[in-house]
Amino acid sequence: MDPPLRFVLCGSVDDGKSTLIGRILHDCGQVFADQMEGVEEDSRRYGTQGDATDLALLLDGLKDERQQGITIDVAHRGFATARRRFIVADAPGHEQYTRNMATGASTARLAVVLADARKGILPQTARHTRIAAMFGVGHFVLAVNKMDLVGWDHDAFESIVSGYRTLAEEIGIPDVATIPVCALTGDNLTRSSGRTPWYTGPTLLEHLEAVAVEPRTAGQPFRMPVQYVNRPDAGFRGYCGRVVSGTVKPGDRVRISPAGTTATVESIMAWQDTRARAKRGDSITLTLRPDVDVTRGDVIVDADRPLEVADQFQAKILWMDDAPLTVGRRYRLKLHTREVEATVTRIRHRIDVSDGSQLAAPHLGINDLGVVNLATSRPVPFAPFDESRELGGFILIDRATNATVGAGTLTFALMRAANLKWQDFDVDGEVRAELKRQRPRCLWLTGLSASGKSTIANLLERQLVTEGRHTYLLDGDNVRHGLNRDLGFTEADRVENIRRVAEVARLMVDAGLIVIVSFISPFRSERDFARSLFEPDDFMEIFVDASVEACAARDPKGLYAKAKRGEIRNFTGIDSPYEPPERPDVHLDTEGLSPEECVEIVMRRLA
Ligand code: ADX
Repeated sequence: MDPPLRFVLCGSVDDGKSTLIGRILHDCGQVFADQMEGVEEDSRRYGTQGDATDLALLLDGLKDERQQGITIDVAHRGFATARRRFIVADAPGHEQYTRNMATGASTARLAVVLADARKGILPQTARHTRIAAMFGVGHFVLAVNKMDLVGWDHDAFESIVSGYRTLAEEIGIPDVATIPVCALTGDNLTRSSGRTPWYTGPTLLEHLEAVAVEPRTAGQPFRMPVQYVNRPDAGFRGYCGRVVSGTVKPGDRVRISPAGTTATVESIMAWQDTRARAKRGDSITLTLRPDVDVTRGDVIVDADRPLEVADQFQAKILWMDDAPLTVGRRYRLKLHTREVEATVTRIRHRIDVSDGSQLAAPHLGINDLGVVNLATSRPVPFAPFDESRELGGFILIDRATNATVGAGTLTFALMRAANLKWQDFDVDGEVRAELKRQRPRCLWLTGLSASGKSTIANLLERQLVTEGRHTYLLDGDNVRHGLNRDLGFTEADRVENIRRVAEVARLMVDAGLIVIVSFISPFRSERDFARSLFEPDDFMEIFVDASVEACAARDPKGLYAKAKRGEIRNFTGIDSPYEPPERPDVHLDTEGLSPEECVEIVMRRLA
């Protein structure tokens, strides 16, 4: 059986989406008697069609919508005719629900875009079309609804169609059909209308039944991202996943990406059966000969047609979080079955989703679409999104909250960075450490301004030097006079401030030094990044803890007083946040301990 046609239904508020889908379901006989009774009951309470049954109320799972008269979440609904099965995603029309629109589009092959015959192409229509196209929808149907309200006028229809075709051409959409309909009465939806003699094309349902939606992966070689390695006992090792393109059979030579090792397919299993062949869409378990190293997130591919591997990309991102996308911040990136750390290194521009124009942008806010440079912590196997949705579409996840904050598509790898290699030298960190007869480390002091970081750092360094250690002290105020003099105190600048200092500390530790870093470093995410640059035992996070009240009372530089008077903006603890460490290696309570006692504690930990 062919897989169902997945399509997304989009339109502005009040364009009649729910009515349209309700009508199709009803006319296809997909509504059970008890559902119909429920709808009749709901129609009397919430309906918008007077005494008539409001078919818009058929869409399931939308209690809030029923009560507010709007659609607020993506509803997926399956239905079938004699010729085809369908899954429809109903995407909400409000701008703030762009996220749901993208979610609906990301699995759809086709989009039905509704326009109101009286209003024509609205910014929202363009917005939805652009987002659906960005997430890989290649087939569009413009359904011009409420034709009854413009007297079934042919010219009115044609002028809307021509506007939409211009838009589709500009975006580069290959397939557009246009149909004049009335969702309320079902004209040209499920039955040809006698009221549009000038229209000779198919009804919407006929079009959906007949439209050919070849996936772009047609003709592409075998690729299967590994979801799970099955090792029930020492004797068996199977690699489970879904084939995203091509076919595979026992005896085929395959390559494991990114490692590049090759092997031969021994057997293919699906459920309990062995298979002679598997194709795109099949969920299978492969066994290989010989036993090569394969882990979740690897992609098994045709040995002669390897996959690209890269760690720097140009990408498009749709931002979905209230907090803006920050350049330099680390997010978790999920691409097919692989998860890595990723950073947006540069926002090239923002795209105005209504008219497609490119705008300069320091950050991306919620619902913004942007073109960015993206760096991953490790090289990942991928395909450009234009070739493969499965191997080129990703989401970004906030490390602290686990929320999906962005969705995007990889455009291409940036070769410049991929051509940079690590150079090995004979004299390395170990040699330098040995010469200095010490174990180089990074001691990272974090805490509010005036919490005591500088005082403790200073005493600590004196103590270490007395004992014959080679040290260096990196201090926030001092580094901001030189290396980081271009940075201020916005969130983005603080992220960059810490990134640079962490990298410098790493170089100094590699040079053989014990490095004391004394920076407010208010964000967990960047302190975690700093930690990630070092061997586990070479980094010590030291929380210099004093309450805002205590720091404000000390106020050696008079900055708290200024901040409270509004003379300094974004001051940590006053109008800029401080995220205390959750599990610091050392916790120093400077309200209860003297600086000497604090140094004593750190020295004991070092010993
Ligand atoms: S961090 O947040 O980016 O880590 P950093 O440690 O480099 O800050 O710099 C903090 C020092 O800058 C403070 O000790 C204080 O002297 C000074 N400063 C000036 N403006 C601010 C501000 N808005 N917030 C915090 N510190 C400030």
